[in-house]
Amino acid sequence: MKIITLDGPAGAGKSSTAKALAHELGWYHMDTGAMYRSVALAALEQNISLENEKDLAELAASLDIQSAHGDAFLNGRNVTAEIRIDRVTTATRFVADAPSVREEMKKMQRSLSEEFNLVTEGRDQGTIVFPDAELKIYLDASPAARAARRYRERVDLGDQSRTMDEILHSQLQRDQGDRNRPVGAMAVAIDAIIINTDGLSLNNVVKQILKCACDRGLISD
Ligand code: C5P
Repeated sequence: MKIITLDGPAGAGKSSTAKALAHELGWYHMDTGAMYRSVALAALEQNISLENEKDLAELAASLDIQSAHGDAFLNGRNVTAEIRIDRVTTATRFVADAPSVREEMKKMQRSLSEEFNLVTEGRDQGTIVFPDAELKIYLDASPAARAARRYRERVDLGDQSRTMDEILHSQLQRDQGDRNRPVGAMAVAIDAIIINTDGLSLNNVVKQILKCACDRGLISD
């Protein structure tokens, strides 16, 4: 099946872009960040130590995790909102740092690509999970624009518990962890097209990617 990967840091617009792109193409939208978050939520709920890699990997392998079109399901339960709370975001780092959990996630992600054409978003999709993807995009944006986007999303959900500065600080910390993990680090694939979304509308970003997909012969005009 065909694959478009969208990697990049938090707040660069990956989720809204991937969702709109998948909708436009009629392809499956896979949010791999939501998959890591779902494992973290399950670990918290089952009191599994975040320091115990073996237990975390066994847990990941035992879960039914579905990430489709912007919604996340953990063993059939819709956890879309729950996986975004700060406690889960903090715990996700431990899960994502564990190489054997990443192996499990890679298996799950690859098995979906056998069934569906995919728009998949994450950190390692173009580099590690789908190195042969037909089109790889790396979405980037300035730290200020990324923090502003996340801040607006939170306010729209009625959450004003953190200032823009606090969000910026935690995003920069998360970026550092994401770039420096020994396995599955966030990186630009050598054959990726980099799009900086600062000042671009969602529509504009999606159009640029559709044009790239057309140029590669992935879709017709
Ligand atoms: O994309 P999102 O912010 O929801 O991802 C949550 C965390 O999951 C990221 O900070 C990163 O540490 C991890 N992640 C990852 N590999 C992916 C997707 C997400 O390590 N493919």
